[in-house]
Amino acid sequence: MNVQELINIAKMLVSGDKGLLAMDESTSTCNKRFAALGIPQTEEARRSYREMIVSTPRLGECISGAILYEETIREQKKDGTTFVKALTDGEIIPGIKVDLGAKELAGHPGEKITEGLDGLRERLAEYSHLGARFGKWRAVITIGEDKPSQGCMLANAHALARFAALCQEAGLVPIVEPEVLMNGEHTLEQSFNVTEMILREVFSQLYDQRVILEGMLLKPNMVLPGMSSPLQETVDEVANATVKCLLRAVPAAVPGIVFLSGGQSGELASARLNAMNLRYKSQLPWALTFSFARAIQQPALEIWHGEEVNVLAAQQALYHRASCNNAARRGEYKAEMEGK
Ligand code: 13P
Repeated sequence: MNVQELINIAKMLVSGDKGLLAMDESTSTCNKRFAALGIPQTEEARRSYREMIVSTPRLGECISGAILYEETIREQKKDGTTFVKALTDGEIIPGIKVDLGAKELAGHPGEKITEGLDGLRERLAEYSHLGARFGKWRAVITIGEDKPSQGCMLANAHALARFAALCQEAGLVPIVEPEVLMNGEHTLEQSFNVTEMILREVFSQLYDQRVILEGMLLKPNMVLPGMSSPLQETVDEVANATVKCLLRAVPAAVPGIVFLSGGQSGELASARLNAMNLRYKSQLPWALTFSFARAIQQPALEIWHGEEVNVLAAQQALYHRASCNNAARRGEYKAEMEGK
């Protein structure tokens, strides 16, 4: 492991007002999104959708890194250029989702544990060979009656830390993603408390596994009320709660925090990220940026709709969301940008 190299990559991923584009949907998630729009769920449809994304002109102005998926990292554009090369040529650092998904946690009905540690060392060596410079592992935490349990939080935090240590050993920057889900009726305060608890547990486990904090990124949820909660706080209230929670639980040595979008609309995700940077940027030890999938891709996916003729318009929509988030990092995002 070259520690300085890890630190450099982590810093590059959060430099220049840029953020990450998550395009690491598993085959089943990608198929679900396609099915919802009536797009054929074939390998070729998934490949051409991803070709549309990686070929978007000037994407590298707003995006520092792209998270690929097992299937995608081996794929090529129609002209034979690998996706990895297309991204690197566009000054976007390729990375990969390395977990094997969240499965039912035995003895904990309704809770999940992310799998994929067995054989991970060997897979990481292969991903590094294919050109990946960072890896991502997502754990999911559910808020509900008697949830999350201590057992679920501990198991997931431990797995995240084991993944992070293996990543660093392989020379890949780990993106540690403990996601407290938005599903449910819980309040902003409950989301705050659970997010603080899981982050504290994650950093305790990262310490035990000797993960170098300067050479990793954290990918958390924003602190949000449940989607079905009747009380939906304002953008500023969400920004305040999120920053307060992160300040309590995330060590200053971590270079960057890259939010997931978790089901928020693209506009709200940009507005909330913007409010955090506008209000707090100069006082924060880490960069606050984005690593959105749906909040960047959704409009582009709807426009593309599986049709070659829509590629240009879809790329414009993708670039637009990426540039809105780029502005949000500077605290310069405005709702009026959406009309353009
Ligand atoms: P969303 O932004 O759609 O929540 O996806 C985030 C993610 O983890 C994909 O890598």
